[in-house]
Amino acid sequence: MAGKRYDLVVIGSGPGGYVAAIRAAQLGLVTACVEKYPSLGGTCLNVGCIPSKALLDSSEHFEHARGGLAAHGVNVSGVTLDLARMQERKERVVRELTRGVEGLFRKNKVERVLGSGRLVGAGEVEVTGAGEPKRLATKNILIATGSKPASLPGIAYDGRRIVHSTDALALDRVPARLIVVGAGAIGLELGSVWRRLGSEVTVLEALGRIVPGTDTGSAAILQRALERQGMKFRFGVSARAASVTGEQVRVDVVPAAGGDAQVETADVLLVAVGRRPYTEGLGAAELGVKLDPRGRIDVDERYQTTVPGVFAIGDVIAGPMLAHKAEEEGIACVERIAGVAGHVSYASIPNVVYTWPELASAGLTEEEARERGLEVRVGTFPFLANGRAKAMGEKDGQVKLVADAASDRLLGAHIVGPRASDLIAELVVAMEMGASAEDVARSVHAHPTLPEAVKEAALAVAGRAIHN
Ligand code: FAD
Ligand code: NAI
Repeated sequence: MAGKRYDLVVIGSGPGGYVAAIRAAQLGLVTACVEKYPSLGGTCLNVGCIPSKALLDSSEHFEHARGGLAAHGVNVSGVTLDLARMQERKERVVRELTRGVEGLFRKNKVERVLGSGRLVGAGEVEVTGAGEPKRLATKNILIATGSKPASLPGIAYDGRRIVHSTDALALDRVPARLIVVGAGAIGLELGSVWRRLGSEVTVLEALGRIVPGTDTGSAAILQRALERQGMKFRFGVSARAASVTGEQVRVDVVPAAGGDAQVETADVLLVAVGRRPYTEGLGAAELGVKLDPRGRIDVDERYQTTVPGVFAIGDVIAGPMLAHKAEEEGIACVERIAGVAGHVSYASIPNVVYTWPELASAGLTEEEARERGLEVRVGTFPFLANGRAKAMGEKDGQVKLVADAASDRLLGAHIVGPRASDLIAELVVAMEMGASAEDVARSVHAHPTLPEAVKEAALAVAGRAIHN
């Protein structure tokens, strides 16, 4: 590799890094991607989005087979769980997708470099930890090192009984009792997986509601649905300490506002209280790359850090920690490096919680719009009144649209219900195009489909829903 000079070295092969590397290579930049793990794809493909969705889908099948099919006249008996096989399938899904990234790198001529990357100067990355150390000379560096699970003071992970999301994806036994700290995306998704497989799940949340930041009414509908499924919630509480005795974890549950502890026991304690940006061993701060007080890398509108020629995107910078946000930033960043106009529409980034029902939102909540002094009109439509949802046996949830009262322009969409993750896409495109609620209402939606609930909510903005 001596003497070779790259246009771009990407550090990290998560959805931010690998997508940026491919786009850079498409644009003709000589590109390398440094990843410290042998498996490409970062958190998302290896220990995040993909394995969690594989387990969510498998556990949904198990739950349906165990009880949900009888209502359809399908009688199944003797249903048993083969957790090892479920986990093997999850691993296979991950393997196929991570190998897919290897193939995409080969196809696009992105050079893959195994090892830990460290900035040793603007224009130079040292790679160690896999064979002989090497130095890569490059015009530009893109930091896409992502994030790691946050922890709580006084609670040490042991990987078996006191775990973060990575270990909770790989349990080899269904815990009889699971306590989850944090009612965010991870707590609710992984809580759902293990509840469906047989755990008694209690979620401890410091605030007064689940999925803070999302539409309050939609979150309340999801909470009720999850409670009916058997998930328990305790609000305004946190965990202060945890210790393992034999096969049990002892957890000190305390009021979030402070006060006396109450002791609870469980087989497994999952701490899911957010993630922190990951810059350890990167040499960024030493080179003059400025971090904010929360450890995220500061960037300008071109994703350039305080060091010229060094860029950063994804979970390691500010903004929602989402795979698609990281991808879009990676693409926009390298397009600008290559002199092509790149852009990320932050106002309409969708956010999905893949429970059942799912919760999906994009744009402003009603509360946020009003806080900004906007006058809004809101249209809602329940899935109970949607023919397809009825045929499927899905009655929980609604579509809620927020539109500007004067212009009718769509400002936000909040869906709790079946396949909300798919339904939100139409509304993201509508918002991106500056569509009005009436534009959506007058677009012909096939019958009978779940998207008809979106159309009806758009009609409801003008007070003229047909089926409600
Ligand atoms: P990462 O994916 O974290 O990748 C960073 C990579 O950089 C890693 O591979 C790391 O090994 C590597 N790296 C770090 N430092 C170095 C170094 N010095 N040298 C070499 N390599 C280095 N998001 C969604 O949008 N949808 C979901 O459904 C979803 N589900 C999730 C479920 C779970 C359980 C978790 C934990 C997260 C989930 N997320 C989801 C969040 C999503 O995984 C992240 O937002 C996304 O992976 C961030 O991408 P990234 O490229 O910024 O970083
Ligand atoms: P989160 O930030 O989504 O939720 C954390 C929850 O824990 C919040 O409700 C918060 O109020 C609560 N909390 C914080 N400290 C607490 C304490 N001491 N005691 C009790 N509760 C406390 O974080 P989460 O769920 O860990 O996920 C991390 C990141 O991964 C998120 O940014 C999320 O966007 C991403 N992710 C995305 C998924 C998706 O898109 N479907 C799925 C899983 C993760």
